[in-house]
Amino acid sequence: MNKRVAILISGSGSNMVALAQSMTGDHPGRACLVLSNDPQAGGLAKARAMGIPTAVVDHRPFKGDRAAFEAALMEPLLAAAPDLIALAGFMRVLTPDFVARFEGRMLNIHPSLLPKYKGLNTHARAIAAGDTEAGCTVHEVTAALDDGPILGQARVPVLPGDTAETLAARILPLEHQLYPAVLRRVLEGKRAPIALP
Ligand code: GAR
Repeated sequence: MNKRVAILISGSGSNMVALAQSMTGDHPGRACLVLSNDPQAGGLAKARAMGIPTAVVDHRPFKGDRAAFEAALMEPLLAAAPDLIALAGFMRVLTPDFVARFEGRMLNIHPSLLPKYKGLNTHARAIAAGDTEAGCTVHEVTAALDDGPILGQARVPVLPGDTAETLAARILPLEHQLYPAVLRRVLEGKRAPIALP
């Protein structure tokens, strides 16, 4: 029996596509839902084109009432009955209550070498700090932001003249390798961290 994987997005959904495309054949998982907090998220059309059910819970009408937003988010999520949730460019901070509902069953990808640069503007911060390497991290989601156990990291050099944009463009293809690799391992019960390349 395949494990059901719900993928939460806010934007273009390129990581979601990489995850969904990886879940074929003898892969233990299948995408059961793509859920976005933004009706305009480009990833929604990509999910539909792949035949994955989609849902939208726009966060804006909730005007900062996180508990109410998350209650609404829970409806399509529970209806999809996921075994695992993959945050893939989902740009809303989740409350400890929400995270607790899915303890040990929620993953996130973050575009830095955690524990460095939790939060936003990771690439600009790595460049401003003079770092010689940067990368991305897949980790388990816990109540504290970008803080859970690390399941995998991929590294790239920071090159002279890099901007946040060029660095992000160097890291994103590695995100698309790392996240599917970690997802598969987690669904197989393996949580020892991996390193790419
Ligand atoms: C990715 O770079 C992901 O690591 C980042 O957003 C981008 C989403 O791109 N996530 C975060 O910053 C989470 N705090 P995508 O929609 O094309 O996958």
